[in-house]
Amino acid sequence: MSTDLSTENLSPGESAETPAVRVRGARRTFEAELAPVRALRGVDFDVAKGEFVAVMGPSGCGKSTLLNVIAGLDGVDDGTIEVAGERVDGRDEDWLARFRRHHIGFVFQFFNLLDGVSALDNLVLPGVLGGMKRRAAEARARDLLDLLGLGDRLQQVPAVLSGGQRQRLAIARALVNQPSLLLADEPTGALDSEGGLEVLELFRRLHEDGQTIVMVTHAAEVAAGASRSIRMRDGRIES
Ligand SMILES: Nc1ncnc2c1ncn2[C@@H]1O[C@H](COP(=O)(O)OP(=O)(O)O)[C@@H](O)[C@H]1O
Ligand SMILES: [Mg+2]
Repeated sequence: MSTDLSTENLSPGESAETPAVRVRGARRTFEAELAPVRALRGVDFDVAKGEFVAVMGPSGCGKSTLLNVIAGLDGVDDGTIEVAGERVDGRDEDWLARFRRHHIGFVFQFFNLLDGVSALDNLVLPGVLGGMKRRAAEARARDLLDLLGLGDRLQQVPAVLSGGQRQRLAIARALVNQPSLLLADEPTGALDSEGGLEVLELFRRLHEDGQTIVMVTHAAEVAAGASRSIRMRDGRIES
């Protein structure tokens, strides 16, 4: 790909050497009926700009919690989270919403697309929310959908697309506002093997173009597409 897909938003004071993600001593405990669940028990985790990191580990080990605290969708009880040189922990919802809009693209297992609107509008709406004029958002949306192989699907609603196409649409949406960081939580988990390969191939191309990606996955063959993988167990990073 040869567009500005990877052109990212730099924060004030951020330089090219600022790590994409720096997590230090992150702890997150959930109250539960029997006993508190310690989802993160002191996690240190760094991602350099341009890396494609796979996060693996058994169900319940804290992978989604780690992504959520990096995205500021959930808070930590202790420790610090930095994304693109900015502290994310301890911020209020308004700040987080603004930060996410400009710095973070999030891809979910079950796509979370807007079902009632076209593929194009699934991208234009977040673009406009992110501060783009409608025309600019539409141009960007068309470019992205072309690049992601959905250029002939602009007016279709998600329901008529295959699983792999829906996830590519969700990835296109996550990229509309040129996030410095793309987070994906089991993006191939709901897809058949063909759809999974489509999505993985797309992540590889984005990575080649310089996009920083952190992807949670169960599947070793999916993790093999990343430039580095880490393994979690019981709320800690094992390796
Ligand atoms: N909102 C929540 N409330 C209570 N417990 C939670 C919540 N989110 C996650 N947990 C618990 O925290 C642990 C880690 O969950 P999670 O990060 O989703 O694991 P993974 O993504 O690796 O499967 C699990 O035991 C899970 O049940
Ligand atoms: Mg999970």
